Amino acid sequence: MPAIVLVGAQWGDEGKGKATDALGAEADYVVKFNGGNNAGHTVVVDGEKYALHLLPSGILTPGCTPVIGNGVVIDLAVLFEEIDGLTARGIDCSKLLISANAHLIPSYNRTLDKTVERFLGKRKIGTTGRGIGPTYADKMSRVGIRVQDLFDENILRQKIEGALDAKNHLLVKVFNRRAITVDEVFEELIAYADRLRPMVTDTGKTLVDALDRGEMVLFEGGQATLLDVDHGNYPFVTSSNATSGGACTGSGVPPTRIDRVIAVAKAYATRVGEGPFPTELHDEWGDRLRNVGGEFGTTTGRPRRCGWYDAPISRYAARINGVTDFVLTKLDVLTGIERIPVCVAYEVDGERHEEMPMTETGFHHAKPIYEYFDGWTEDISAARTFDDLPKAAQVYVNALEAISGQRISAVGVGPSREQTVVRHSLLPE
Ligand code: GDP
Ligand code: IMO
Ligand code: MG
Repeated sequence: MPAIVLVGAQWGDEGKGKATDALGAEADYVVKFNGGNNAGHTVVVDGEKYALHLLPSGILTPGCTPVIGNGVVIDLAVLFEEIDGLTARGIDCSKLLISANAHLIPSYNRTLDKTVERFLGKRKIGTTGRGIGPTYADKMSRVGIRVQDLFDENILRQKIEGALDAKNHLLVKVFNRRAITVDEVFEELIAYADRLRPMVTDTGKTLVDALDRGEMVLFEGGQATLLDVDHGNYPFVTSSNATSGGACTGSGVPPTRIDRVIAVAKAYATRVGEGPFPTELHDEWGDRLRNVGGEFGTTTGRPRRCGWYDAPISRYAARINGVTDFVLTKLDVLTGIERIPVCVAYEVDGERHEEMPMTETGFHHAKPIYEYFDGWTEDISAARTFDDLPKAAQVYVNALEAISGQRISAVGVGPSREQTVVRHSLLPE
């Protein structure tokens, strides 16, 4: 009956895809429960690199059933493009299951996402421009279009009419763009109905039945704790619940069935898009982390902002997600740095804070208080046990564990599936 939730501890791109893929061999189901193709997970298997956006990383593991849950927003063109691309590379996508309740991203929401960002000017969020925010806004406003609507043409037309009512006013009168017709949206969406139909099912029931049979279900979070719409740096967040609670609401599996929560954190920190970032580096150290770590977005190609490890954020992630284990990734990127700074607390308006400040203003004012750790020069990419790591790297990992609020059960030393040091099994005991 093991159900494991895997989430990002920081601002995304922690290496969740690699961690999911590594656990995928043990999982019967891998479920995406939030977000859409704003996510970008790079997974390296046998030297082959795969960039996944909408499909759960479990798609790469033969025998594992990938599931897109009700909490996800789906761009159908992207879905089939990704399926076709992977199929052409020999990956079997035929087992994919999709929730009838998942929402669709019509092209007008991509247009709105980009247009709103342009209008926001200096106050922009720096979204991925994939229509994520407007589609979740439609869901909450009850004018969203769901997967199941494709299978009833009358309903689909009615829903599109309902959605376009207000949107066309906005597009024409505020944003000075042309009105969209019901027919064009209808044609755009219905074109996918036949291909989609065999994949669509009551995925909540599928997953609970699987857990009842004693099978293993892995929930793969998109985005991360500080991008969560409730618990992140609002408004510089995505529009879904990327924290562990989202695994339940976004899949239909209740909290009482979850056994373990794994949070993935980088051995340093990165962020894409706008918003506060206390340990951000604007000097050559930031450039070094970006270049050595290959910190350029999987989805948009944007250079990621880089900074040092931030322990108050990890402690926050541990609390909000109920983390049982951390996976620390990209330790290899720090090799060769003589003295590694780690943010252990913040100074906010002259006061020391061990935890995340209560308000967003406080977080904007937070200045990192650093402790420094000795670095190492040895290549660690071939390390497979903790003892294989140089003493200084062991001290660094143990120090992070002591201040991050939970044990660090695995450490990434390179992008490949096998480049991982496992300290405690990530499978339920
Ligand atoms: P995700 O969005 O959390 O799945 O992460 P991304 O795939 O966007 O970004 C993580 C990047 O780091 C990818 O290019 C991975 O291949 C790479 N990666 C993951 N773990 C490690 C690691 O331990 N060391 C190194 N050097 N790269 C890693
Ligand atoms: P993975 O799953 C990093 C960021 C965007 C922007 C904000 C809102 O690969 O970790 P959105 O398009 O979601 O409305 O943008 O969230 N963002 C991510 N940053 N990794 C991601 O996903 C992200 N998904 C969204 O850059 O700041
Ligand atoms: Mg990513």
